[in-house]
Amino acid sequence: MFSIEHLFRKSAPHARTADDFSRLPAHVAIIMDGNGRWAKKHRLAVAKGHRQGTETLREIIRHTDDLGIRALSLYAFSTENWSRPQEEVDALMQLILDFFASEIDELDAKNVHILILGDKSRLPRLQQETLLQAEERTAKNTGLHLNIAINYGGRDEIVRAARRLASLAAEGRLSPDSITEHSFSDYLYTSGQPDVDLLIRTSGEMRLSNFLLYQCAYAEFLFPKTLWPDFTVADYDDALMAFGRRNRRFGSRS
Ligand code: FPP
Repeated sequence: MFSIEHLFRKSAPHARTADDFSRLPAHVAIIMDGNGRWAKKHRLAVAKGHRQGTETLREIIRHTDDLGIRALSLYAFSTENWSRPQEEVDALMQLILDFFASEIDELDAKNVHILILGDKSRLPRLQQETLLQAEERTAKNTGLHLNIAINYGGRDEIVRAARRLASLAAEGRLSPDSITEHSFSDYLYTSGQPDVDLLIRTSGEMRLSNFLLYQCAYAEFLFPKTLWPDFTVADYDDALMAFGRRNRRFGSRS
């Protein structure tokens, strides 16, 4: 179904190294969009698009780690994705299991710290256990923060943080005046991690879709037209290069 060339293209023989970049983001967030369109283009079931998208995801994680980037956040399943056809939801749930079964040893060996962003309690039990085990196994790792958003919504994350702060205040354990932008972020899933510097959404769509709303306040945005299953390490390097050329002012003049 796929040419040998297609399958090997992503092994990225020409991938760049950290020395090739003048500036790298500390935190990259990716909305992996276009799996459905890719499947349609190849006359395949949508699940095959997600499966091929998972291959891209493996390569991008590896390369992010090789470059020494601090954090990578991937939007795998939003709170809205439950409304997709059951067959597609099931396929995505299966991919989560397959992904962790095949990757966890390598990720742990590479000192990657895995964190699931989102509410795991709505997931099937096996998925919950798998995700929890991955988090627990890698909890002490000090390398790349690999955040995988599953049953995640950005507004929901902010509301949860507000609720926790409100109950601490109601119990008299926190003064409302002591809440700052920085301390608020300690109540988000990504507590302790740098803000998102670069957000990439593939497939040409230009929306944030409720992803990391608080953390993206000063992020640079890039919207490559490539569909996620076709997104290569070279495309990723191009995006990182483009980030390096951006003039980030954070609201100031120069
Ligand atoms: C958006 O494409 C993509 C998703 C909703 C799922 C992304 C998930 C993966 C790449 C793999 C699963 C993750 C793990 C951790 C194994 P779309 O289907 O909305 O594309 P379309 O807009 O072209 O229809």
